[in-house]
Amino acid sequence: MNSVSVIKGHIVFTDSASEFTIIENGYIVSENGSIIDVCDSLPEKYHGIDVTDYGDSLIIPGFYDLHNHAGQYLQCGTGMNKELLDWLQDYTYKLEKDLADPEYAHRVYSRYVEDLCKYGTLGACAFATSSTVGTECLFEEFKKIGIRGFVGKVNMDCNAPDFIIEEAQKSLEGTRYLVEKYKDEPLVRPIITPRFAPTSTREALKMLGEMAVANGLPVQSHLSENRAEIEWVRELFPEYANYASVYAGNQLFGDTPTLMAHGVYLTEEEVEMCRNGNVYLVHCPDSNINVRSGIAPVKEFLNRGLKVGLGSDIAGGHKIQMNEAIVRAVQSSKILAVDKPDAQLSLSEAFYMATVTGGGFFGRMGKLKRDYQLDALVIDDDPLYKERYSLEDRLEKFLYIGDDRWIAARYVGGKLLKPG
Ligand code: GUN
Ligand code: FE
Repeated sequence: MNSVSVIKGHIVFTDSASEFTIIENGYIVSENGSIIDVCDSLPEKYHGIDVTDYGDSLIIPGFYDLHNHAGQYLQCGTGMNKELLDWLQDYTYKLEKDLADPEYAHRVYSRYVEDLCKYGTLGACAFATSSTVGTECLFEEFKKIGIRGFVGKVNMDCNAPDFIIEEAQKSLEGTRYLVEKYKDEPLVRPIITPRFAPTSTREALKMLGEMAVANGLPVQSHLSENRAEIEWVRELFPEYANYASVYAGNQLFGDTPTLMAHGVYLTEEEVEMCRNGNVYLVHCPDSNINVRSGIAPVKEFLNRGLKVGLGSDIAGGHKIQMNEAIVRAVQSSKILAVDKPDAQLSLSEAFYMATVTGGGFFGRMGKLKRDYQLDALVIDDDPLYKERYSLEDRLEKFLYIGDDRWIAARYVGGKLLKPG
């Protein structure tokens, strides 16, 4: 029984997307990081075990950011006057180039992982840059901080400035090196990361798909984000019926677990392709607004049974905080709902995307329920709110106006992380 531990507080999570499950003054019992019991009174067999009592605080699942660019962290909040393709050319690639310097990469990436953790993101799927040594620094920073991660070296071998692309074979070699080095890590693992179809040759896409399938590695990329980008893909790959098929034709679309960021303008065929159980769309509402891409019809995707997670997409998105991404998902759906009332996402649906769907990509995470990993946040909100509001209201308040000052503790796999 040594490895059994108990925490107590008001437990709030989404078992289904349609509503919050609330256990007032509940207990979470975990063993070796895995939840074995959640109850409103502690069974006798656990008496005698120390209870960490968080009193009147909320205990909620951690957040999972399924799409962001660690290599763009310093860019957050700048260059927001451009549309996607110009934004990449004029700002982003130049900045990513500098992350090839390990000393600088450690400085940037340590801040990035500290901030993820600080704001309650306990798992993140990250694009580093095309630099192999730079990407290695990001793996190391994830290991140091102790949150979960999928880290990708960005494969690019055409249609971008020379200073950021590599020849296909060399790019693949770098990825292979990182896969070998980090494939057995418990918390941070490699993910195959073609940046997006336009910056890969046919040869590179084919080799990347083969590598993903041969090693059972997940894949992450961008899909159908912006109208000019989609048109470019059509010109570059006329042999494919649509954007998703460029990936699918190369074993990069659900042959292994796959994250596809955006999906703002999917065709009917592409929506059907996304119903493949291994494909997760990642909705990135801030980014879609900032680089003027559009608003993805997320509620419709959910109604049709697609898996849709949430991403900060920094630095297309300007903030790394996932509570803000949850709010922005609801807000942008309301804009669609002005003309189509069915398009509105509820707060519980957006929360589910950031916790349960996101956590599902990492494993058994995202619910505070038996057989899930204990990945959780303790929310200690203002006493003035506590005395006045219901538990669900208090969660809503945290999501809308809270920040790291409200997060009293963070657990990853049952382990209490050091205060940030
Ligand atoms: N498409 C290709 N690269 C990028 C990127 O860095 N950010 C976003 N938002 N879209 C992309
Ligand atoms: Fe992105």
